[in-house]
Amino acid sequence: MTEIFPNLEIQARLLELRKVLQRTSYEYYVLDAPTMEDSVYDALYRELQALEAQYPQLITPDSPTQRVGEKPTTQFVSVQHHIPLFSLENAFVSSDVKAWQERCQKGLTSNSEEVSGVSSRLPKGFLDNVCELKIDGSAIALTYEHGVLVRGATRGDGTSGEDITPNIKTIRSIPLRLNLENPPDHLEIRGEAFLPIAVFDEINQERSQQGDALFANPRNAAAGTLRQLDSRIVAKRRLDFFAYTIHINQADFVLQNLPDISSQWQALEFLQTIGFRVNPNKRLCKSLQELQDYYDFWSTERLKLPYMTDGMVMKLNDLSQQEQLGFTQKTPRWAIAWKYPAEEMPTIIEAVTVQVGRTGTLTPVAELRPVLLAGTTVSRATLHNRDRLAELDLHLGDTAIVRKAGEIIPEVVRVLPELRPNGAIRFVMPTHCPECSQPVFKPEDEAATRCINLECPAIVRGAIEHWVSRDALDINGIGDKLVRQLVTENHITSVADVYDLTSDQLQTLDRMGQKSADKIIAAIAQSKNKPWARVLYGLGIRHVGSVNAQNIADNFPNVELLARSTPEAIASIFGIGEEIAQAIYEWFRKEANQNLIQRLQVSGLQFVSEKKDNQAIAINPNITGKTFVVTGTLPTLKRDEAKALIQSAGGKVTDSVSKKTNYLVVGADAGSKLEKAQSLGVQCLSEEDLLNLIDS
Ligand code: IVH
Repeated sequence: MTEIFPNLEIQARLLELRKVLQRTSYEYYVLDAPTMEDSVYDALYRELQALEAQYPQLITPDSPTQRVGEKPTTQFVSVQHHIPLFSLENAFVSSDVKAWQERCQKGLTSNSEEVSGVSSRLPKGFLDNVCELKIDGSAIALTYEHGVLVRGATRGDGTSGEDITPNIKTIRSIPLRLNLENPPDHLEIRGEAFLPIAVFDEINQERSQQGDALFANPRNAAAGTLRQLDSRIVAKRRLDFFAYTIHINQADFVLQNLPDISSQWQALEFLQTIGFRVNPNKRLCKSLQELQDYYDFWSTERLKLPYMTDGMVMKLNDLSQQEQLGFTQKTPRWAIAWKYPAEEMPTIIEAVTVQVGRTGTLTPVAELRPVLLAGTTVSRATLHNRDRLAELDLHLGDTAIVRKAGEIIPEVVRVLPELRPNGAIRFVMPTHCPECSQPVFKPEDEAATRCINLECPAIVRGAIEHWVSRDALDINGIGDKLVRQLVTENHITSVADVYDLTSDQLQTLDRMGQKSADKIIAAIAQSKNKPWARVLYGLGIRHVGSVNAQNIADNFPNVELLARSTPEAIASIFGIGEEIAQAIYEWFRKEANQNLIQRLQVSGLQFVSEKKDNQAIAINPNITGKTFVVTGTLPTLKRDEAKALIQSAGGKVTDSVSKKTNYLVVGADAGSKLEKAQSLGVQCLSEEDLLNLIDS
């Protein structure tokens, strides 16, 4: 904190944080137009809390930390909650859960001594818990009189909320009359109203078509919908509800002949029998390990559910234990939420560096104050390109929201200009390449900024790293470090120079003995036997992946034919689009590339297809003519081997998933291809499925 916000600036930071939090809270609660992700709001709130704890003399009565929420808007009638709607304490790691369990045990021990003085009533060992999913919606309170729904209210600030009964009545999973023969005079049910993800997507799609602001997430959309003044709109939104608590006067149980409810588990079952939807993914846990297992299981499984969850809730099962422990100011002592890690967090941009890739593309990268995101510490995030940078209007020292979703590289979502330090400098893309100092080029129709100096060390390094990589010429022993050394010390300036390296030359390098040097020279020599398709891929022509390279090599049995071909002829190959064809055509027009090919030919690399025996392959109708894409790490086959298997069985393999793809073969850690296939409804196969299909 000290470098960017030294002590003198603490006061200014406090003021700004308060302003931002107050405005956001007003937008959320009063205007119904949330503008900030919850995790971001919470983190900024915690920052304010921490600063105030450190400098208590700077606390003001109007600080957002001095109250628990905003007063509701005046448009709905305000209602008093006779029993407050409490919130939950949060746990983030298993030790928090263990500490909570110990606190409960201790609390019960001292209470029972106080109350009865009888030690035989002390709880022994682990206290049974009901685990429920923490549904990411809005808490609501439902009042039933004589079994009829008379009022539905928002949580508000916990003690007073808003009467939203007409809206509540549109929720079909909420019974208007309870399924009870002798209902008590008065009964209150609490639970979570939420929007299914699919409905949320539909609403946002509609809103974007109408030019309305989009909801940030299903939780905000649910909160906004519940407080819609026109309940006809609410009815169209298909809100849903899971019940989780019931409040009935103790006396009524006897009077109304209700079944005995002495545990949370029984309460959930009872709720279900009287007509409520109760989340089925609940579990009674009898040890810390079982809590951990539930948490771990749902950490990934929850992503498949049709509604959003942000954690699990643990509640002591025994209601008498709950009663003994009671509540703190804001939360029950007998329950805790164990949250899943947030995927969006705010942090400070400490610097921006610019990376130059293999094709010369300049990528701005934000160097961040390290922040914990979805379970990992993130200290760098991509800023994509100059257009994205301009959109972000990023200044050094800015507070930025960083997102890491799934496997995707962390990115900066937006910055908060309100928290910008005075005099902060706007970051602009450099006009010259940071690696070779030559002017950069900005194609009009592209967002990319590119270095076009073919001798730029970054481009040379990238080209060589690609050439030696596994799917290309697969030269063992030449890693990124060695490439950097070789290029920096001017031993090589192009891929062709790799074939002029000698063992003696390598031995002049740091920490390189004769044995290792000889091994590398042998690996280089071996690469000369790699087939033409691999060589073509190794050349690193834009958009030419390993599958495309194979398809092209199959159609152009030697380099001369390809070099002399037209973009149209290249594009006529299956799977090759116009953009790739044009890139190939242009690549061969460059003199430097022609010289490169010539030198590689002289060095003995393969630029001609080997004659394949025409094997008689029985036609397998499951494979022949079908299009496959392979992604992720397969359990036994290498990706190349899987591709070769498919091709030899008569199938086609392409690099990217489209409507034309018949099957996606999926291994571990699959990323965007899997998502795309799922969204297009493309059938997914495991390695085992593939082998069965081939054998069928
Ligand atoms: S129990 C005193 N159970 O989480 C009981 N809350 O962060 C307090 N929530 O305000 C609530 N799913 O809106 C409970 N299965 C669940 C829940 C749940 C979601 C929400 C609820 C509460 C918030 C606290």
